[in-house]
Amino acid sequence: MTTTAAEPRQLWPLVLAWYDEHRRDLPWRERGTSAWAVLVSEVMLQQTPVVRVEPVWRAWMSRWPEPAALAAASPAQVLRAWDRLGYPRRAVRLREAAAAIRDRHGGVVPREREDLLALPGIGGYTAAAVRAFAYGERDVVLDTNVRRVLARALDGIALPAPSLTRGEEHRAADVLPPDAATSARWNIGLMELGALVCTARAPRCDACPLAAACRWRTVGQPGDAHAHRRRTQAWAGTDRQARGRLMAALRDAVEPLDETELPRWGDEAQRARALAGLVADGLVELTPPARYRLPE
Ligand code: ADE
Repeated sequence: MTTTAAEPRQLWPLVLAWYDEHRRDLPWRERGTSAWAVLVSEVMLQQTPVVRVEPVWRAWMSRWPEPAALAAASPAQVLRAWDRLGYPRRAVRLREAAAAIRDRHGGVVPREREDLLALPGIGGYTAAAVRAFAYGERDVVLDTNVRRVLARALDGIALPAPSLTRGEEHRAADVLPPDAATSARWNIGLMELGALVCTARAPRCDACPLAAACRWRTVGQPGDAHAHRRRTQAWAGTDRQARGRLMAALRDAVEPLDETELPRWGDEAQRARALAGLVADGLVELTPPARYRLPE
């Protein structure tokens, strides 16, 4: 794999200085934010944009400021509070993680990678993000934004492979600043750079602190080699939209709903499939004789 002509150590101060000047003031980045609050933010932010996450995160943290508080809530309460963030299994898994933190870790979000990975719904990215952003540990944080910035700046390609590779992990580890405090700022700086400047579709290279060092720029910004393999996240007409419609009706319902009271949109097969999927996933409960509700 080719690397940029610039030494990684030359890139660190560029990213750090840019971040200090351009970072968004997001509430979970405030000094003193608890590890639990960071964990909740990272789970919410994984598949949902910042602007939609922020109000839900604020409400969530004032209602359930500690893991034990969330663990004591019902899945129905948790799913209602999750509102329209999407991929609601995340909410149910977060409640399960809260119970595990209460039971196994005395109510304190663990710091060790293995302990974090053993929690329901917590994968490599979230474990690394909590370690870096909550505990200031030196760890490789690789979300889609960081992966894209590194792919461009160091490898000279438009976008990284569709799935995270070992090679990317090794390369990200190789360029991680050696001291923990700087590494955490490097991680968040790259993430913010990818979110605000080095975006997937319309990178603003004129505003980028790495422009002069960027290998992708040096080689003439070639297009995406994996374009044909990328899944577009369509929404209208999908089963995910169908599940969202049914979940919205059930969140709003005061009493369990009869099947006929659930929304219809003209695709009966899709509706039946979506409903069965929600029940199978534990997001909806079937109560006798045939009524549907969020799990109590
Ligand atoms: N700050 C810390 N983690 C973040 C994330 N995943 N998205 C946006 N801002 C963040």
